[in-house]
Amino acid sequence: MVTAIIGLQWGDEGKGKVVDFLASNFQAVVRYQGGHNAGHTVYYNGQKFIFHLLPSGVFCNQSTCIISGGVVVNPLKLLEELEQLAAIDLKIENFYLSEDAPLILPFHQQLDIVFEESRYSKIGTTRRGIGPAYEDLYGRRAIFIRDLKDEKQFRSKVEILLGYYNQIFKSFAARQMKLEEFIDDYLSAGSKLNEYIADTRKVIANLLERGKRILMEGAQGFLLDITFGTYPFVTSSHPGVAGIFTATGINHKELTRVIGISKAYTTRVGEGPFPTELSDDFGKRLRDLGAEYGSTTGRPRRVGWLDLVALKYAVRINGVDEIFITKLDVLDQLEEIPLAIGYQLKRERFSDFSPAVEFLEQVKPVYKKFKGWQKSLKNVRKVNDLPVEALKYLNFIAEFLETKIRYVSVGTEREETIVID
Ligand code: IMP
Repeated sequence: MVTAIIGLQWGDEGKGKVVDFLASNFQAVVRYQGGHNAGHTVYYNGQKFIFHLLPSGVFCNQSTCIISGGVVVNPLKLLEELEQLAAIDLKIENFYLSEDAPLILPFHQQLDIVFEESRYSKIGTTRRGIGPAYEDLYGRRAIFIRDLKDEKQFRSKVEILLGYYNQIFKSFAARQMKLEEFIDDYLSAGSKLNEYIADTRKVIANLLERGKRILMEGAQGFLLDITFGTYPFVTSSHPGVAGIFTATGINHKELTRVIGISKAYTTRVGEGPFPTELSDDFGKRLRDLGAEYGSTTGRPRRVGWLDLVALKYAVRINGVDEIFITKLDVLDQLEEIPLAIGYQLKRERFSDFSPAVEFLEQVKPVYKKFKGWQKSLKNVRKVNDLPVEALKYLNFIAEFLETKIRYVSVGTEREETIVID
């Protein structure tokens, strides 16, 4: 009944395209964690759209789109996205926003920036206030979407929380913030969003009772998971399957299929270890071939070879049933393509991944090299039409991960995809 789409790397695996490609087989698409740190790119009628909050299924008319209570929401940003769609005359008919979604308020963003610029932490965050908003949730002082419904109560809750943040800002010699700077904008956004606010657990349960198929759209990637990722260089939520259960109200028996997404190589934005990183001119070439610039922040992404050790870890913990390889066409011109199949540290060889930063910063990848196909894959639609070198590369990945590769993307458009039966 429920299928999950999980990014298996450090985010930016191409989830926007994948969800858009698969959405027509589902009656609902649910964003279950993260916030507008995500940037899911979808090409629709030749036009590029980047969704930060809305589920990437919005272009499938029959899909219900849901933002669950696990997502931290900046209502102003959500409205901007809805307006972007209204500008092309697309009103999503069935859109639900969880009343339980914690709000991102302007002081969360200021704190995110203050921390990034302090000596305490330099994570390379998207500076959108994601971490501080989740901190408030776990600190049991969060303010939720549902609070926007009662103006008086909302003002009073925000005023108290702002007092707390201004104390922190004082100790960092950062700017004091005032309620008047933003409160009216939030209330006005709240009333515009009112028609969408719902108990999404009930909406989801009701869809399942009626036998509808639901797609859970993860944001970021599993190696950025707060528990399983390369802590502290992680995001503040659970991009893996665990995040679905803490956010949507479905139970583990209802999740019947997990599709893991991986690029044909690896990228990472922000700080943190990256064993297969290419820091040389070749890395720059690969970055340009793959247009690897952040869709949310525009930052150049760090690029490197595919790391099967890390991927195997993500596949196992998320119980991945099938793999969707994206951007295989980016490797079209390369003469040789290495795949990391182990790590070496001093004299010791490791075949298992550990997210410990100290370990990953020291290991050297052990590569198996593959001959490149040096042909354009853009027009390939059938697996049998793939060059033999590309097939060897894909087959090795599937065997190493002991998981079937079901889909291969060879371009940005929805139809530039190979389905392997
Ligand atoms: P935050 O999520 O803004 O707190 O950033 C924490 C880390 O996650 C940083 O390394 C970000 O670059 C990374 N990150 C957050 N969202 C995304 C994403 O959607 N794609 C890739 N990296 C992300």
